[in-house]
Amino acid sequence: MPLEIATTPNPSPRSDAELAEILAAPGFGTYFTDHMFIVEWTPERGWHDARVEAYGPLSLDPATAVLHYAQEIFEGMKAYRHADGSVWTFRAEENARRMAASSRRLALPELPEEDFLAAVDALVAADERWVPGHEGESSLYLRPFMFASESFLGVRPAQHVTFMVIASPAGAYFKGGITPLSLWLTEEYTRAGRGGMGAAKTGGNYASSLVAQQEAAAHGCDQVVFLDVAENRYVEELGGMNLYFLYADGRIVTPALGTILEGITRSAIIELAGKMGHPVEERPFAIDEWREGVASGEITEVFACGTAAVVTPVGTLHWDGGKVEGSSEPGELTMAIREQLVDIQLGRADDTFGWMR
Ligand code: COI
Repeated sequence: MPLEIATTPNPSPRSDAELAEILAAPGFGTYFTDHMFIVEWTPERGWHDARVEAYGPLSLDPATAVLHYAQEIFEGMKAYRHADGSVWTFRAEENARRMAASSRRLALPELPEEDFLAAVDALVAADERWVPGHEGESSLYLRPFMFASESFLGVRPAQHVTFMVIASPAGAYFKGGITPLSLWLTEEYTRAGRGGMGAAKTGGNYASSLVAQQEAAAHGCDQVVFLDVAENRYVEELGGMNLYFLYADGRIVTPALGTILEGITRSAIIELAGKMGHPVEERPFAIDEWREGVASGEITEVFACGTAAVVTPVGTLHWDGGKVEGSSEPGELTMAIREQLVDIQLGRADDTFGWMR
């Protein structure tokens, strides 16, 4: 049976004046909307007590399992306002499917796709005025997440789980906007090995990226690049973004799935680029191919992509003792792919893929 969702409006929502100020410069992940969605799960009752209520702090027992064993997963997605005022999400069914896959890896219960979508819709409906206008590229970032909310210190799958959705208006993820990122190749840290959690969207993967991200920052770089665990040879992903390599002869390569996150923007680009006449090769991509390809001019553009990052050009790759200089300007094909994607999301181009909902 589909979830029944009770909505209790926030008695003191942000004023129109405050909201206008926030939406004029939302940044990323700083301001939160007036409401949040919550539903609970137990083995006896399944998913129950679904509600939209005023956004606010949670009260957690110090023994809440997620605080100890990190049994947690999340998603990232966006709602966009089109010129006629209507509000749309992008490939929301894919987020529901990926969250179910993450649930299976983290021994969490699966939330049915229709309930995931109903939860997102209910929150977007309650906080519709928080979806930025269509003129720029801002959107309402949605963060569905699920965590072990049982108070218990034994190591086993939690018998009480909470799923929530919160929302935050979002502008550019990077302060520099769409100027090329400088990347640091970490040879010290890895992200995930075979059989690990690399393909799941779970907080632990992001926690483990932080020290490597600090290493990148200490070398003056914006983001860190991870290599595979087994051979320390193949490019995986950045801390929270997938990578694409564009060749002078029109080929496009992206690292194959397995231990990396199956990005929803990543897979949209495979379809978009194919339609633009650039079939994408998904395969293991060695770090030497990157270094040599950029140095020889065979690789002309590199970009990172993700829900938060959209499509962001990559410039120079640095490592301990060397670097290859990428372009300091965004590449032409990178920007063409970016524009096609954003135009569909913002309703400026026909959604021939059926991605918007
Ligand atoms: C996203 O792009 O939605 C991500 O999850 C990346 C990051 C903000 C964690």
